Amino acid sequence: HKLKMSLDQIEKGGYDHFMLKEIHEQPKAIIDTYRGRMLADEGIIRMAGIDDNMNKFLNAERIIIVACGTSWHAGLVGEYLIEDKARIPVEVEYASEFRYRNPIITSKDVVIAISQSGETADTLAAIKLAKSKGAFVFGICNVVGSSIARETDAGAYTHAGPEIGVASTKAFTTQITVLTLIALKLASKKGEISKPKLRAFLQEMQMIPKKVEDLLKIDDKVKEIAAVYKDAPNCLYLGRGFNFPVALEGALKLKEISYIHAEGYPAAEMKHGPIALIDENMPIFVIATNKGHYEKVVSNIQEIKSRAGKIIAIVTEGDTQVKEIADHVIEIPETEEALSPLLTTIPFQLLSYHIAVMLGKNVDQPRNLAKSVTVE
Ligand code: G6P
Repeated sequence: HKLKMSLDQIEKGGYDHFMLKEIHEQPKAIIDTYRGRMLADEGIIRMAGIDDNMNKFLNAERIIIVACGTSWHAGLVGEYLIEDKARIPVEVEYASEFRYRNPIITSKDVVIAISQSGETADTLAAIKLAKSKGAFVFGICNVVGSSIARETDAGAYTHAGPEIGVASTKAFTTQITVLTLIALKLASKKGEISKPKLRAFLQEMQMIPKKVEDLLKIDDKVKEIAAVYKDAPNCLYLGRGFNFPVALEGALKLKEISYIHAEGYPAAEMKHGPIALIDENMPIFVIATNKGHYEKVVSNIQEIKSRAGKIIAIVTEGDTQVKEIADHVIEIPETEEALSPLLTTIPFQLLSYHIAVMLGKNVDQPRNLAKSVTVE
């Protein structure tokens, strides 16, 4: 009977998997995360957790971001954002390494802990350590009232809604959204960005959900690419600048749910190792958007081509140069370079999803992985 839907189907909102549902929820999740926090036309960002502790941030000698997994990748994007916009030095640490390496932390440090679940054991331990050394600790969590949300001195929630799929998607883009707001808020307070520039940037940020929405429509194209490369034993993901962390995250998504070995690399580091692996059997996913060191990435693509590697490039709409060399291109809408990770990450999420489905893997609950890791 048409009206009969199982509870499971209802929970998945008509999608085959939670992961696909959550990928499609991103336009709304991003809006929910910045709503009430920015008045784009006035160039105003309001975040209570930052506003109430502004001096801590302004006096910070550095910001240390601690996280694990996908949240750590969002942290790397945060590093690029905060350093570029607010000009405050940032370090990004794996919580598990940070907590055990006798780190130098003082009361002049601000620690930002990022965690979707708010329950990751290593991240929680890193927070406790930082607090014991007198640092101010700010949390970016998705789960309200979680351990990390309670343990931190202040924070900002991502309003992604529940994320069920083990492979994180909307948590990642909403974490980047919060980090963008933080970077711009600090930049504006420090006078590193003019009011008109801030306004223009925020107005562009308001366009992102619609651009993500449009990008989700290229699903069929991504599916075709997935069908071509689903049996590859290895894949390489390359990106530079703001999109280097997206390359890492793209590779992680593929590993997590399709069990294909994948590595993310800064495009220019390719020549220091991975280039040795390139032959006609190696698919290489390259982010080559127009503002991010484009010409340099194009020469990396040429190096791949001359070694017969298969090139799947993410380019900006209207690109012509890469189109001529690459085996496949996926176009993303034009945007600010600093906002591009919110777009470039989408095709990689879809690609991993389709490959995993085609290979018959358990997309929402991949083997050996847990949604939240509450033990060491
Ligand atoms: C696990 C999950 C990942 C997640 C990581 C950090 O490994 O499978 O998807 O990125 O933990 O989790 P957190 O909840 O702290 O963001």
